Amino acid sequence: MILDGERFVPVVVLDDPARAVPLAEALQRGGIRCAEITLRTPAGIDAIAALREVPDFTVGAGTVLEPDDVDRVFDAGARFVVSPGLADDVVERAQALGVEVIPGVATATEVQRAIRLGLDRLKLFPAGPLGGTAAIRALAGPFPGVRYLPSGGVTAANAAEYLASPHVFAVSGSWMATRELIAAGDFDAIARISREAVGGVAP
Ligand code: 3PG
Repeated sequence: MILDGERFVPVVVLDDPARAVPLAEALQRGGIRCAEITLRTPAGIDAIAALREVPDFTVGAGTVLEPDDVDRVFDAGARFVVSPGLADDVVERAQALGVEVIPGVATATEVQRAIRLGLDRLKLFPAGPLGGTAAIRALAGPFPGVRYLPSGGVTAANAAEYLASPHVFAVSGSWMATRELIAAGDFDAIARISREAVGGVAP
């Protein structure tokens, strides 16, 4: 699995693709070697293309909503694909291209459907409003083989609690590299927040 060993996946909204490489370098200084670049801005695709060249860094795409988006991010160099929800055609297009896909789920019905699609690593979104680690524990009863990437409401204050769950392979969120910090070019802050996140969990 492409994200094996990664425990933090920053969710990134970039307005200027020129900020992508300095952002990745800041994350790396903080001990984070991956990022999910969302397609929420037109800069997303160019940012993914820029990050494919960064050594020892795994770039993925987020907010991937349509099968055509999967092709676009794959061509740009994304090595994993994340969606907020579960769309069979998005999952199947990623599987056809051989790129790891982590769709979002929020209900047992969606987990069950994702399992049928052959998946066992899913984004739980929005994790906080769904009940956080209590929701994950409840889902682990019927679906013991699934591991989650909680996202939505994960913060510096609760990331370690999520990561202590055996059903969580990594957490994701925007707090490590907010749109505002990126736009301000405050890469030192991004490196510091990332370092604090990584330092706050057991290895
Ligand atoms: C998202 O897709 O925006 C992520 O889940 C991030 O959520 P957050 O802003 O609550 O970290």
